[in-house]
Amino acid sequence: MNDEVRKYYVSAPEKEISSDISAKTFDIWNVIEFWRKKLDIGNRLLDVGVGTGHFTYQALRKGYNVIGIDFLEELLEKVANKFPELKGKLHVVNVFDEKSVSEFVRKFNQFDIVTILGLVPNHAENKQQLTASLYNITKFSGVNSLIVEDLLIQEMFPGRPEIYWSEFTHTLTSLSELGEFFKKYGLRLLDAYTIHEIYPAVSEYDKELDEHYIRLFIHKPPRK
Ligand SMILES: C[S@@+](CC[C@H](N)C(=O)[O-])C[C@H]1O[C@@H](n2cnc3c(N)ncnc32)[C@H](O)[C@@H]1O
Repeated sequence: MNDEVRKYYVSAPEKEISSDISAKTFDIWNVIEFWRKKLDIGNRLLDVGVGTGHFTYQALRKGYNVIGIDFLEELLEKVANKFPELKGKLHVVNVFDEKSVSEFVRKFNQFDIVTILGLVPNHAENKQQLTASLYNITKFSGVNSLIVEDLLIQEMFPGRPEIYWSEFTHTLTSLSELGEFFKKYGLRLLDAYTIHEIYPAVSEYDKELDEHYIRLFIHKPPRK
């Protein structure tokens, strides 16, 4: 358990934790629905790193059969109080911990759609942990499933160190590491978008922060 990350999330304002999921900036549901129809993908959705629960709740309201996981019980309790319909659908799982992931999959089986929004793998303390989380995430996804994953990529930030500190440590991955990951699991890249989130200046940092990352739509194909 990364104490730095825990400390941040138990006190951070909701606006900072939550990705902007308004259709104004990027209509994620449109893209998910497009690929679901095209590839005949089911509606069992796992939301990894629920944070404020807004996305998980949207998925539920849209008729998805939803489960949400996060490594912070405190956050899950807040989400269950805010959205009582999600009670019983939220579980503590640490995606950096292979045992925690495998136990969860044994109990709940694999999913048709796995969403990992808000740079969860980049919360890793080092490269090894980041790579392990990418591999762990594929354990959640069944055959013929869709993985939607946000990632900070090294090549998008020339000169920026692979590991840097903002509110907590962030670890970046590279295109070649991603390529290896795709190859190892026979994954197919369906779509890639760049998302820009502009954070307003705060007292600790007097400039707007243009944090941009890629949102990947990945297909885990059916067995041949
Ligand atoms: C930036 S927030 C994003 C929340 C939400 N997915 C969104 O996009 O609005 C990242 C979330 O990932 C969770 N998280 C971080 N590391 C995790 C881990 N190892 N396993 C599971 N959840 C983790 C944090 O507790 C937090 O709720």
